[in-house]
Amino acid sequence: MKNLNVTLTNESRVGEVDFHNLPFGKIISDHMFQMDYDGENWVNPRISPVEKMSIHPMNMALHYGQSIFEGMKASRSKEGVPLLFRPELHAKRMNASAKRMCMPELPEEIFVEAIHAIVGLEKEWIPKIEGSALYVRPFMFAMDEMIGVRASFTYKFMIICLPVGPYYPKPIKLLVEQHYIRAAIGGVGEAKTSGNYAAALYPSKQGREKGYDQLLWLDAEKRKFVQEVGTMNIFFVFKNEVVTPSTTGAILKGITRMTAIEIMKDKGLTVNERELSMDEIVSRYEAGELIEVFGTGTAALVANVEEVKYGDMFLRFESKNWDLSTSIRTEINQLRYGTIADKKGWTVPAKGIEMAV
Ligand code: COI
Repeated sequence: MKNLNVTLTNESRVGEVDFHNLPFGKIISDHMFQMDYDGENWVNPRISPVEKMSIHPMNMALHYGQSIFEGMKASRSKEGVPLLFRPELHAKRMNASAKRMCMPELPEEIFVEAIHAIVGLEKEWIPKIEGSALYVRPFMFAMDEMIGVRASFTYKFMIICLPVGPYYPKPIKLLVEQHYIRAAIGGVGEAKTSGNYAAALYPSKQGREKGYDQLLWLDAEKRKFVQEVGTMNIFFVFKNEVVTPSTTGAILKGITRMTAIEIMKDKGLTVNERELSMDEIVSRYEAGELIEVFGTGTAALVANVEEVKYGDMFLRFESKNWDLSTSIRTEINQLRYGTIADKKGWTVPAKGIEMAV
């Protein structure tokens, strides 16, 4: 990336943070990255102190929802080196979301260099405590000022960083949603776009009022096959196979999902990406074949599920001593902290702003 302009804060806030009690998503680091799309080119890459931004009342992202994002986590090694996990996959997924939402793609090398730059600069913000991380949020949104439905010509791409504790500190309860849907094939369910999350808020609120942390979404056509949780992809561990719904267009292609599948296959397990109906889940649960249920996501990492409610049925699990989810969580953490050999080159040191200026 040429011409990265860097303005540093006069006074870091990092000393004010209680890294032992980190909430998720409330504390932001000192600096942010931004870059503009002028209708033809990505221009003016810059890092500056975090500050409020002013938005025009006709901003098209506010009215028509062209807004996409990514989520990744940075950690640091025992020696203090800031580490990124598979950043190039996030660059690719962001561009897939951009394409679907009729937004400009960002050259992958610019995305990756910007991540290296901001995370390297904010390395003191990376928590040292296991289970915590620096959550890195790249996002892009429309910047044209106009009322009328068309794709914006101008956009902004930004990256902010937040030191975070665990998203789900304990096992979660899922309610299978049988009325509302998250996404249909042919829609935007595969894109990481803000509207997917907004559409889930009302049904999720109803689920929470019944005591459930999240909804387990079913397919839009038959309300039969499981899709994802909205904040996570979902895995069912049966005696002879691990099953996760195939990515047929309506569910997010999770990077932690992909990583977990690769880890399980390397362990010699049979992992099937296929259609999985609630009927099959219930009958295999009743036959004693369903051993573990867990979700995967950048924020959630690997989250155990202790209850699934489907209509009048309760599928309950004692997740304390689960082997598989624990071993996947441990392996991803070890890779992220650089404490085991990274044979696949998934973890890369953040190079800082030097590589970008
Ligand atoms: C992520 O896992 O990074 C997400 O964007 C989901 C959200 C629950 C934070």
